Amino acid sequence: MTVIVTGGAGFIGGNFIHYHLKAHPGDRVVCLDKLTYAGNLSTLASVMEYPNFRFCKLDICDREGINRLFDEEQPDAVINFAAESHVDRSIEDPGVFLQTNIIGTSVLMDACRAHGNVRFHQVSTDEVYGDLPLDRPDLFFTEETPIHTSSPYSSSKAGADLLVLAYYRTYGLPVTISRCSNNYGPYHFPEKLIPLMIANCLNDKPLPVYGEGKNVRDWLYVEDHCKAIDLILRKGRIGEVYNVGGHNEMANIEIVKRIVHALGKSEDLITYVTDRKGHDLRYAIDPTKIHKELGWLPETKFTDGIQKTIAWYLEHRDWWEEIISGEYQNYYQKMYGDR
Ligand code: NAD
Ligand code: DAU
Repeated sequence: MTVIVTGGAGFIGGNFIHYHLKAHPGDRVVCLDKLTYAGNLSTLASVMEYPNFRFCKLDICDREGINRLFDEEQPDAVINFAAESHVDRSIEDPGVFLQTNIIGTSVLMDACRAHGNVRFHQVSTDEVYGDLPLDRPDLFFTEETPIHTSSPYSSSKAGADLLVLAYYRTYGLPVTISRCSNNYGPYHFPEKLIPLMIANCLNDKPLPVYGEGKNVRDWLYVEDHCKAIDLILRKGRIGEVYNVGGHNEMANIEIVKRIVHALGKSEDLITYVTDRKGHDLRYAIDPTKIHKELGWLPETKFTDGIQKTIAWYLEHRDWWEEIISGEYQNYYQKMYGDR
């Protein structure tokens, strides 16, 4: 089949393309990406010349361009990874989050409708459920947990999810949604916690921990997320939401210390900085539904995944050093300069 993957020059989309081309060599994969600050073509360098791969620089909000691409490719499925994805940036400037994450999703679904009700999968996030208290380890997000967002980012993702479900009910568009917890692994943009801490450690720079570092995230190795999406696309029930996560909760400070120790650095690098506004306390996914219905379970343990990730950043310094040498410096100064 022909699959359009949006946002494939980003972290998870890029990992998904590598996974998909290996797992389904008979499929045609068309990557559509606007190449924002978060998109890196070098992530896709090794597959660029594959005969069954095409890259197209395109904005998901560009209705005409999207319809033209659908006319050319006649896709069987669309997987929408394209998004503005960083919570801190959404707090600084929400507008582009609403445009890409909500309007862009509707443009893609309109094209799906206009081209024979193309199968559509929306890559969403556990952040649409808001947060859980730190002192109730018995509570988890299920697919029935009410939407209750905290940041402009999560609100825009929740808006998109509601639209996706509306297109299913109103127009019968064959949709699914996955809501995953925090991913980590190769090609992760160094503005996010794990790659930022690895890059700063390697450059002996301070490690900025928000608040007291007690906030908890539920970490999943990115390849496990890719496998879950692939399963949902092929075997998931239409109109359904699937939570994806592997019961791997850790406080931020614990993660940072692990990275410091793995790289043989000193904990003196850790610097507590002003907390994120509206900072969600704890995320924790209950993955029972995807396990029972589709047999999905995470395969990579955190101890192995974090080792593989650190090794990848050590072996691919050129990938992330190029990123942090450019516009990223202005971003870093703005976000952390006098925090
Ligand atoms: P990312 O920021 O690394 O990549 C986003 C990609 O989308 C980039 O390549 C960017 O160029 C592209 N893009 C942005 N705006 C676009 C537009 N208007 N048109 C076309 N392309 C555009 O993000 P990520 O971390 O890989 O996240 C991918 C998806 O997964 C997002 O939808 C995000 O909400 C979701 N998600 C992420 C995580 C996580 O831990 N990173 C967890 C759960 C869900
Ligand atoms: O849960 C899924 C979500 O995970 C995705 O939907 C988002 O796209 C993705 O960015 C991620 O959101 P978070 O806000 O959880 O990720 P981030 O890496 O930005 O931060 C993780 C935690 O680390 C959070 O509690 C804030 C904290 N943090 C982050 C940065 C960048 C710090 O303490 N210091 C930092 O410098």
